[in-house]
Amino acid sequence: MTVSVNLPPGYRLKAFDTLDSTNEEAKRQALAGADPGLVVWAKSQSAGRGRRGRTWVSPAGGLYFSLLLKPDCPPARAAQLSFVSALAVAEGVAPDLPRDRGIAFKWPNDLLVNGRKISGILLESGGGSARVAWLVVGIGINVDSHPEGTEYPATSLFGEGAKGVRHGELLGRVVAAFHGWLGIWEREGFEPVREAWLGAARGLGEPISVRLPDRTLDGIFRGLAAEGALILDVLGEGERIIPAGDVYFPAEE
Ligand code: BTN
Repeated sequence: MTVSVNLPPGYRLKAFDTLDSTNEEAKRQALAGADPGLVVWAKSQSAGRGRRGRTWVSPAGGLYFSLLLKPDCPPARAAQLSFVSALAVAEGVAPDLPRDRGIAFKWPNDLLVNGRKISGILLESGGGSARVAWLVVGIGINVDSHPEGTEYPATSLFGEGAKGVRHGELLGRVVAAFHGWLGIWEREGFEPVREAWLGAARGLGEPISVRLPDRTLDGIFRGLAAEGALILDVLGEGERIIPAGDVYFPAEE
């Protein structure tokens, strides 16, 4: 497929009409020795995947792409890139939304508009336990429509008032914003990323529930720990560091 998308220097595009999953294709490319900076974009996916083994329903009309990176750092540090990605998606979609847009982050890496999920991010990596050999950042944005009946309520850019979104331009904006935030992260570390993310995080300082595979924890959302884990002040137990889980806000349970 021939398309032209404005990408920052060092990034190159492989575009497809359809793929099983852009993350899977980026992984195949990584294992075949592709250089970092590859952007894999598909107009639809037949086996799009989400976090925690879920399916990411991917009909034409959404934006599905993956970035291949080789950050040469320990896996725990690479995990911080999910927050870099969330900031990039927020910056990328903002110009398409009406002025009074209610953009917020939901831990760990969802983007909400007016309380509903508009985008999800899935990081997958390979290599040893000491260093990451390759990292794929997969981003899905609901553009023209959103799935019904999802565990967490969803929305789309169209549903939030965006008109005539150009997928290629949106992709270019998100990658450019990603490149900008990646530079900040490389030069200054996680702190500025953490601050920016917390600045628009939903539920900070408020009661939330975190669903873990075997139970649900209720507490006050206190912030992000070093690698991006959630700090939850659990009533009667004190602060707990939660590396993975699904966050819900009180009115939504
Ligand atoms: C989630 O919120 O569960 C994460 C969803 C990530 C979906 C994107 S779409 C592009 C890339 N390819 C995939 O198969 N998944 C990610």
